[in-house]
Amino acid sequence: MLSDRIQTLSPSLTIAISSLARDLKAQGKDILSFSAGEPDFSTPQPIKDAAIKAINEGFTKYTAVAGIPELLEAIATKLKRDNGLDYAPSDIIVSNGAKQALFNLFQTVLNPEDEVIIPAPYWVTYPELVKYTGAIPMIIETNEIAGFKITADQLRNTITPQTKMLILTSPSNPTGSVYSKQELEALAEVLKGTNILVVSDEMYEKLVYGIKFVATASISEDMYQRTVTVNGLSKSVAMTGWRFGYLATPNKTLIAAMNKLQSQSTSNINSITQKAAIPALLGEVDDDIETMRRAFEARADEAVQLFNAIEGLSVLKPEGAFYLFVNIKDVSNDSIEFCKDLLQATGVAVIPGIGFGSQGYFRFSFATDIITIREGIRRIEKFIKHTRG
Ligand SMILES: Cc1ncc(COP(=O)(O)O)c(C=O)c1O
Repeated sequence: MLSDRIQTLSPSLTIAISSLARDLKAQGKDILSFSAGEPDFSTPQPIKDAAIKAINEGFTKYTAVAGIPELLEAIATKLKRDNGLDYAPSDIIVSNGAKQALFNLFQTVLNPEDEVIIPAPYWVTYPELVKYTGAIPMIIETNEIAGFKITADQLRNTITPQTKMLILTSPSNPTGSVYSKQELEALAEVLKGTNILVVSDEMYEKLVYGIKFVATASISEDMYQRTVTVNGLSKSVAMTGWRFGYLATPNKTLIAAMNKLQSQSTSNINSITQKAAIPALLGEVDDDIETMRRAFEARADEAVQLFNAIEGLSVLKPEGAFYLFVNIKDVSNDSIEFCKDLLQATGVAVIPGIGFGSQGYFRFSFATDIITIREGIRRIEKFIKHTRG
């Protein structure tokens, strides 16, 4: 009954861990979850107010598929102000989260047998969405020594005549790594003269710690032309449930094709969310974003210190996002077994590294209050001591 296509999708490991956590909770076990990919903060008040106003004013009808003009203008203003990028409102499409933007993009440009380069550790969704089109994920492994970033040589060696796309995520989920201007320039040099499209997922742009974020499309005119910039408000403005994401590209043919797909599938995103997003894009909640960023940074500093004090574990300090990618290679070579055992023994839920393409790690989200973080790491330490004897 099922299509061949749907069978290419793997079940989510996150869901497997979450359902085990739910079962244990139902049995009365005290569960601490560090698996969330969303901020523990509430959406800033000016955004809620804009939404309430939109409802009260009856802004409840269908809108243009790509988004209302006022919203597209606000996104263009944001991209110019924050990233120095010149996009016209007609270069932008708003979707139900960055996830739908990526889904639509891949469906629009990828053919079976096309190759898509994805650096690992990667956000779990990329290879799945790529496989769903029939295209082939080409994974480049990275490690701590390289700061979990690919090099120009690795990229050069992976490119073939079938390479259609490169996906970059900076800051990264799950490692927190951020590409510097020089690193992006080196990758840009390799791409010059090719037809490779770069998808730059900049979801965690606002959550960086002690470094400057650089947008991939801002590197050069060549990179601007070949890059599709993907962003949203879920992570940086605590708006996961509102479902707001967008992409921008100067490629008019691509935008027209994506508009066609969205018009025949989901149409415009929720009209209320469109109005609510505008204050965030125009900088009206920048103070709230900074408060959240600082809280994340303080948690990261403390959690990194606590993890690195545990014998057998090690972790790099993240430069962005709200995850730690903790190395457990001295303790276990099976991250799924490790995470299941940890959850069963201590009630601590973290995500196995293999879900992100890298065995020998787990992902720990610090989008949780510091008291819970301390208690979680304390339990992990006890578990590790016990396993190591
Ligand atoms: C790197 C990255 N990109 C995109 C998304 C999707 O965000 P949303 O669909 O909520 O905009 C996520 C969410 O986990 C993410 O981590």
